[in-house]
Amino acid sequence: MNIVVVGAQWGDEGKGKLIDILSQDVDITVRYQGGNNAGHTVVVGDKEYIFHLIPSAILHKGKTCVIANGVVIDPKAFLGEVEDLKQRKIPVSAKNLKIAANAHVVMPYHRILDVLRESKRRNKIGTTGRGIGPCYADKVNRCGVRVIDLLNPNILKAKLEDNLREKNEIFEKVYQHPPFLFDDIYGEYISYGKKLKEYVCDTALFLNDAIAKKKTVLFEGAQGTFLDIDFGTYPFVTSSNSIVGGLCSGSGVAPTKIHKVIAAVKAYTTRVGEGPFPTEYATSLDEEIRAKGKEYGATTGRPRRCGWFDSVLVRYAVIINGIDELAMMKLDVLDDLKEIKICVGYRYKSKLYKDFPLDFETLNNAQPVYEDLPGWQQPTNGIRQFKKLPVNARRYVQRLEQILGVRIKYISVGTKRDEIIIR
Ligand code: GDP
Ligand code: IMO
Ligand code: MG
Repeated sequence: MNIVVVGAQWGDEGKGKLIDILSQDVDITVRYQGGNNAGHTVVVGDKEYIFHLIPSAILHKGKTCVIANGVVIDPKAFLGEVEDLKQRKIPVSAKNLKIAANAHVVMPYHRILDVLRESKRRNKIGTTGRGIGPCYADKVNRCGVRVIDLLNPNILKAKLEDNLREKNEIFEKVYQHPPFLFDDIYGEYISYGKKLKEYVCDTALFLNDAIAKKKTVLFEGAQGTFLDIDFGTYPFVTSSNSIVGGLCSGSGVAPTKIHKVIAAVKAYTTRVGEGPFPTEYATSLDEEIRAKGKEYGATTGRPRRCGWFDSVLVRYAVIINGIDELAMMKLDVLDDLKEIKICVGYRYKSKLYKDFPLDFETLNNAQPVYEDLPGWQQPTNGIRQFKKLPVNARRYVQRLEQILGVRIKYISVGTKRDEIIIR
């Protein structure tokens, strides 16, 4: 069975932990969009691993990981991640890791432009500063550098010369930033090409061939539905399709080959970066949940904004992604609360919204309409069976299933691999 996991909120739902569990039962795990803006955490025993580009499944022996064409690859970050894993005695080689020849490459001018653009914006997006947006923009502008170009000195030279001619003018005239020197970048990226070469292949052919041979594939989404470039809270989004649709263009695997869509959701909501967040806690609860849930960005370390579960958002995510099953992560973080709220609608200018409003003004000013449920005020960390959960925790899960119309098959109650209830 080929499965895709996506985030149903604003990212950081706990996809890394879920992928770590699900990838034990498949042959291949694939990243298909985003870049090293992602931070996917896996906790094994007392060891924590944070993956930015490499699929979280690399920890499992005998499994293959693929970084497909839809991902934007920063070679420096990629090689750093490989090195870190090797130092931690995790084997990484062309045997268990493939990267797409046609994936686009994050260049130094992308990273700098990302930061400079943010510094000039009045309405900041709060990007991760990893150059993701500018790299995707070059891809669409047809001036991007692809992984395969790093293996071909002539092509890299021609593309880099063309790019620097235009970009250096912009850097100097618009941003008063010194120009980038051809020789510096060219030398650095040719040397990356030599190091990447062993991993590079046509990953679309590799994946389709594996699927034809009845191998099973797990697709690891990055970011979340509301950071999607089309369906998210635009412009406070990332620059790729983080909804399930991104999988096909991002990997070259057709929708007819996908059997199940699973989405990760937090038992509450978080967001890192700027943008509308109707159910954001207005009280000291923000600090309490941030402390309990260790809500700090896995990539940038920024504090994540926290709020109540927003079923208006997640219901939209269920529709857009065709979600078959949900994995509710971090239920344990709510253990101490006396009362728990679920947002079931928004109110703006005396109108009630039951569906996610696309209009920015409405979303930005939306007053959440809440349903109140009693908390359970007991630890859930050690529980492995649904029926053993406190009755109010079960009620919370079941009420959400009712509102969302989707089964919550997995309930995570801690950071570790075994801290999960599978129904
Ligand atoms: P991702 O980007 O979706 O992979 O999520 P992140 O790794 O950025 O953030 C999720 C954080 O929550 C990580 O620190 C995980 O270790 C942690 N986590 C995952 N599941 C649980 C859970 O059930 N309970 C608690 N307390 N923490 C969890
Ligand atoms: P994972 O895969 C949470 C957010 C940034 C910013 C916006 C745009 O770990 O869930 P970008 O650098 O992509 O141009 O930033 O998107 N963002 C994430 N937020 N989790 C992520 O990934 C994110 N990747 C990007 O904070 O608001
Ligand atoms: Mg994350």
